[in-house]
Amino acid sequence: YNILVLNGPNLGALGKRQPEIYGSSTMDILPELVLQVLGKNSQRVSLEFYQNNSEGKLIDRIEQAREEGIDGIVLNAGAYTHTSLALADCLAWIELPVVEVHLSNVLARSEPTRQKSFIGRHVIGVIAGFGMMSYALAVQALFQHLEN
Ligand code: DQA
Repeated sequence: YNILVLNGPNLGALGKRQPEIYGSSTMDILPELVLQVLGKNSQRVSLEFYQNNSEGKLIDRIEQAREEGIDGIVLNAGAYTHTSLALADCLAWIELPVVEVHLSNVLARSEPTRQKSFIGRHVIGVIAGFGMMSYALAVQALFQHLEN
C-alpha cells in the first residue's frame, strides 16, 4: 500500500519545536517505528512524506494523492485541524481513507480550541497523544482498514 504521511504547519520544525509538548524526534524515525508495529507487514507499506505550512498546498497534495493512486493518508494537519473548513471540504469528497494524528493529546491540552476538529468527521479515526508513535499506530490502523 502507498501511504502518504502528510504534515501541516509548524511540523517541519519537529524535534526543535517545543519538545516538551511534541517530543524531540523527527519524522526520520517513523520507518523504524512502523517496522516495530507492523513487523513483516511493513514490507507491504510504502511511505511517502510531505510537509507544508500552507493550507492550499496541503489541499493540492491531497488532490494529487487521489490522482496518483495513493491508498490512504496519515494526516497531522497541525493547527489547521482546528480551523480549516477548506481542508475539511477537501477530505469530504476525496474518497481516500484518512487517519487523523496528533503528537500531543489534544483533548488534554489547556486551549479549548484544540479540542475541536474540523476534519474529524471526514476521517476513519483519530490517534493522539503518543508522540511519533501516533504516526506508526495510524499507519497500522490504515493498513488494517485497507486489508478489510
Ligand atoms: C498537533 C496539535 C495541534 O493542536 C497543533 O496546532 C500542532 C500539532 C499535534 O501533533 O499534537 O501543530 O497537531
